[in-house]
Amino acid sequence: MSNITVLVTGATGYIASHTIVELLNEGYEVIGIDNLVNSKKTVVSRITSLADKSLIFRNVDIRDYDELDRLFETYSINSVIHFAGYKAVGESMEKPMMYYSNNLKGSITLFEVMEKHGVKNLVFSSSCTVYGNEGESPVQESNSLCPTSPYGRTKLYVENALRDICAADNEWTVTALRYFNPIGAHDSGEIGEDPTGIPNNLLPFIAQVASGKREMLSIFGGDYNTPDGTCIRDYIHVSDIATGHIAALESITAKGFEAINLGTGKGYSVLEVVKTFEKVSGIKIAYKIVDRRPGDAEAVWADPTNAYKKLYWKAEHDLEKMCTDAWFWQIKNPNGYQSQFHKPVSSGVNTGSSMDVVNSPKNSQKARITA
Ligand code: WQD
Repeated sequence: MSNITVLVTGATGYIASHTIVELLNEGYEVIGIDNLVNSKKTVVSRITSLADKSLIFRNVDIRDYDELDRLFETYSINSVIHFAGYKAVGESMEKPMMYYSNNLKGSITLFEVMEKHGVKNLVFSSSCTVYGNEGESPVQESNSLCPTSPYGRTKLYVENALRDICAADNEWTVTALRYFNPIGAHDSGEIGEDPTGIPNNLLPFIAQVASGKREMLSIFGGDYNTPDGTCIRDYIHVSDIATGHIAALESITAKGFEAINLGTGKGYSVLEVVKTFEKVSGIKIAYKIVDRRPGDAEAVWADPTNAYKKLYWKAEHDLEKMCTDAWFWQIKNPNGYQSQFHKPVSSGVNTGSSMDVVNSPKNSQKARITA
């Protein structure tokens, strides 16, 4: 798959970083952009070290039309995988403007520049949050779409914009991937989820309790109508999500808009996740059952049939593997990407410039551009 150049927005984020490793492994050329407000530049050298390939990285905000325009002028980009965006449900309720500006305005700016340069292949990072809490599980793509937060609405509005763009111009090909609950980390322990402050999501919280960083997990609700009373979700390994993007990129044959679920099709309760984490780590997780978290749905899992039919993709990793890899990442990086004792990776990062070609240590002869 050489000579295909993919622009990845939000490149240093959790799912994007795993996807870029897979892209580089598959022989794609990758240009990564990120404004680094919620992620660290260290991620770039971790990626190149892991894949042993070079990657062009630039600090660009997707709302900056001129910067994006220059990027498309400079490189011959074939396709875009669009991850950039804020993603915290609670924060989106407090700061909706921030979400609409970044997630909506940023996306539309990106699509305008793509259109200008005739780049009309896109994989969009959407979310199961577009379904809201009302529908039945397993959730099919045809379920009704009624997100319950500004974050969820930005995802749906971008999907709708893309649907309209595809309807008006049949050269556009767009796959929106609706992820369920991505967890885990690359099995090298080199890249993983690095939440800022107190984690909102279940797995990073459990991992921090196991490592002694947090005292106790609060389980939100023990009186749901589920076998053990706790909520059920479709947890999926982040590396499976990453390969789902490659599958989407490579299956772009039919023109038009398509939304596809990325999930395992299997639901686990919060307590089952806790027990599995305890099993793989050998550590008892202290927890208490507290009140339900407002807005949580009781049980949500995907119908992933379409992903298999249309992308020839299926999730491969089970819950034990997800927890094992999340735990390995936590042990290796107790303070996320800021962990001091992590072995340094050499790279060609030129921190004085807005443009970096980051080379893998074994690959330094492949430098192509320096600014
Ligand atoms: C999982 C379960 C909690 C933390 C979020 C986004 C959604 C999508 C996936 C991206 C729930 C329980 C959690 C804790 C707990 N992502 N929990 N104690 O809410 O299913 O979905 O990620 O778009 O849009 O909202 O994920 O990890 O927060 O919660 O008991 O400290 O764990 O109640 O049942 P959620 P989560």
